[in-house]
Amino acid sequence: MKILGIETSCDETSAAVVSDGKDILSNVISSQVDIHKRFGGIVPEIASRAHLESIENIVNIAIESAGISILDIDGVAVTKGPGLIGALLVGISFAEGFAESINKPLAGINHLHAHIYANLLSGTAVKMPFIWLLVSGGHTLLGIAEDINKYELLGTTVDDAAGEAFDKVAKLLGLEYPGGPAIQKIASAGDPFLIDFPRAKVKKNRYFFSFSGLKTAVLYYVRENEKSGLDIPSVAASFQEAVVDVLTGRTIEASLEYGINRIVLCGGVACNSRLREKFSVDCRKNNLELFFPSFDLCTDNAAMVAGIGFEIIKRGLNSSFCAEPNLKI
Ligand code: KG4
Ligand code: ZN
Repeated sequence: MKILGIETSCDETSAAVVSDGKDILSNVISSQVDIHKRFGGIVPEIASRAHLESIENIVNIAIESAGISILDIDGVAVTKGPGLIGALLVGISFAEGFAESINKPLAGINHLHAHIYANLLSGTAVKMPFIWLLVSGGHTLLGIAEDINKYELLGTTVDDAAGEAFDKVAKLLGLEYPGGPAIQKIASAGDPFLIDFPRAKVKKNRYFFSFSGLKTAVLYYVRENEKSGLDIPSVAASFQEAVVDVLTGRTIEASLEYGINRIVLCGGVACNSRLREKFSVDCRKNNLELFFPSFDLCTDNAAMVAGIGFEIIKRGLNSSFCAEPNLKI
């Protein structure tokens, strides 16, 4: 069963063809990062327009490079939320028309479930239940996956998302957007233990996260030390270490408490090499299995949408395609 996936929730226009929810036949991703870079962040209206301009072409390339014809497609899956409403509507309207024209089912996909599903594509068969950590530009979520449509949420952020913290701190250090890759790069030349930035705990729930205090601590540190000369690589490395510490610590704690020895990482921040390294070391120490997707499947892509779309269409779970921009996990 070949599913065409479409993803336009943020600043990547992506289309993919996935066979039986596992084999990626194509995964075309057109990033708008160069368009938004000069604004230091994503401008929603510009994102919608850019999706509109490229969606048809991206879908055609995805079908062509999968080596199939339109008539080979058995269903269409499209991200229905959460995301930018205008951007989502471009993908949803296109997918709706496309599915209608080939008379095949259409599934509206929760973007967050799709990020988690990225770990079930190609090769790695992660067994459920598992503990998942979703860390992206818009979300920091920790939970337990019991089935393809059953996700229990243990914790989330009370302020900034992990990726958002990377982006904001990069900006105040004068690094380019997106901040995550920029911080990782410069941090490799710094000392992660030079500055002991705060690792905030949230009183109401030990699985919740808070990154705004950390961001403010970096801001004050920069202000106090810029005259005497700042060691930017070490500031970046110390900040990164604080984020990584918190994410790793809380996820492993959840895994041990719930007795679930599989941990799955996903979302753009899961590209971070220090995060992957620390998780690998700490999981080994605690006898836990660790899974994370390849880099191109961590950030926004349509293969993850097509993959979970297969499961949803096969099980007849959902055929809703209205935009739900604030959809929760
Ligand atoms: O999942 P994603 O592509 O889009 C959202 O759904 O938000 O994640 C984008 C986020 C951005 O905040 C970006 O700075 C962060 O992922 N990111 C990273 C790295 N690569 C991307 N953060 C830390 N280290 C990285 N290597
Ligand atoms: Zn995403």
